[in-house]
Amino acid sequence: MTEVAISTDPRGRIFITPEAFADMDAWHATAAEIRRDEPVMRVEAEGWTPFWAITKHADVFEVSRRSDVFFNTEKSAPGPDLQYDMLQAFGIELPRTLVHIHGDVHNKLRSVTNDWFKPAAVRHLQPTIESIADEFVDKMAAMDGRCDFAADVAQPFTIRVIMSIFGVPQSDEPLMLSLTQGLFGAADPEYLGDFSDPLAAITSSINRFEEYFDALSDERRENPTDDLATVIANGMVDGAPMGERERLWYYIIVATAGHDTTSFALSGGLERLLAHPDQLRAIQDDPTLAGAAAEEMIRWTTPVRSFMRWAQADTEIGGVPIAAGDAVLTSYPSANRDEDVFVDPMRFDIGRPDADQLLSFGLGMHYCLGSQVARREVRTLLAKVLERVDTIELDGEPAWSGAHFVSGVKHLPIRYTLR
Ligand code: HEM
Repeated sequence: MTEVAISTDPRGRIFITPEAFADMDAWHATAAEIRRDEPVMRVEAEGWTPFWAITKHADVFEVSRRSDVFFNTEKSAPGPDLQYDMLQAFGIELPRTLVHIHGDVHNKLRSVTNDWFKPAAVRHLQPTIESIADEFVDKMAAMDGRCDFAADVAQPFTIRVIMSIFGVPQSDEPLMLSLTQGLFGAADPEYLGDFSDPLAAITSSINRFEEYFDALSDERRENPTDDLATVIANGMVDGAPMGERERLWYYIIVATAGHDTTSFALSGGLERLLAHPDQLRAIQDDPTLAGAAAEEMIRWTTPVRSFMRWAQADTEIGGVPIAAGDAVLTSYPSANRDEDVFVDPMRFDIGRPDADQLLSFGLGMHYCLGSQVARREVRTLLAKVLERVDTIELDGEPAWSGAHFVSGVKHLPIRYTLR
């Protein structure tokens, strides 16, 4: 493990060390100590702009809600300063997706696709999500009772859903997968591919995204359809077409935010259900429990590990003074295990009474645009798999990806028999 030099409490390393996320039991044990000892923790580490780690549910809630003070900026995705310096050195502008912008500009851009993600519109996606889920359960059936649920099912299922929402062909899925892994999983050696350094992988991914989505935009302007790519390609802001860069970043956020996250909720959630066969059987006996199970899977896994917000004025959080210009890191996995909010938070429980306190999708102006799609994906695939299998169990050691921004179970070997 690469030990980053830290001049504050060494436990603060859990927020910035990619490998720390490959052992979530240890991670959560440390986070629980931090919530008890120094819930708004100062982290000063080599190579990182100093920040405050926000670990209590109430405090993450407050930072997210107070968007008048805590802004999203081009440095919203937590990372070492080098990540930004190198991007600039490569001549690549800093990201400008929805999560990197603030205020009026953000509102206007978000409203381009808002209707697409409203509950009524998302309801119409249900038959598509179901038929894609059926395809993958058939694929499981053809695999001789053994598969890697994360790599063979959850990953390709979530990517196919997002691609079908975009309206782009299945043949482009492998490309999209390698591009998102280049962007989000770049710290994990398994995902580096031909690149020996994570930054080269990120730069290459951005360039290839650009080529791909420029071509798609041209096509959808000439031949509009009713898919999301058409909405983005033809998006208007203040009565004028959306700028080139804004459009590119729009595609990138939907393509990247939409599938690794959901896939980790599915693989990590199933890992827990396999460890709690009683709860798994309860869903098999009563499939209407799949919705509640999906919520608990999303709480337990919390695939987005944090975002960074930047204070615009002197203020305080949890009684700790925060100065204008300071960075604060919203630790969603920690907030989702806060003992002040969740009963027995370290227990996986699909029947928990406090499920509505979930913070996995953030809160406020930047609340996850795709949360309804993600929830449908998780509960639909879960219900379809459990409807078809008779027995299902672990068939080897699961493996977690080591990445500090978005991560989770990347390999889940399972063994199953069908009904
Ligand atoms: C379990 C799966 C998912 C998780 C855990 C997740 C989590 C998050 C989080 C934490 C944020 C930032 C919220 C904040 O700053 O308050 C976010 C934003 C976003 N998510 Fe998701 N997400 C998931 C799935 C999806 C899907 C399926 C899509 C698209 C189809 C999507 C699209 C977006 C977009 C576009 C934003 C930016 C919204 C904005 O800044 O206005 N997400 N998501």
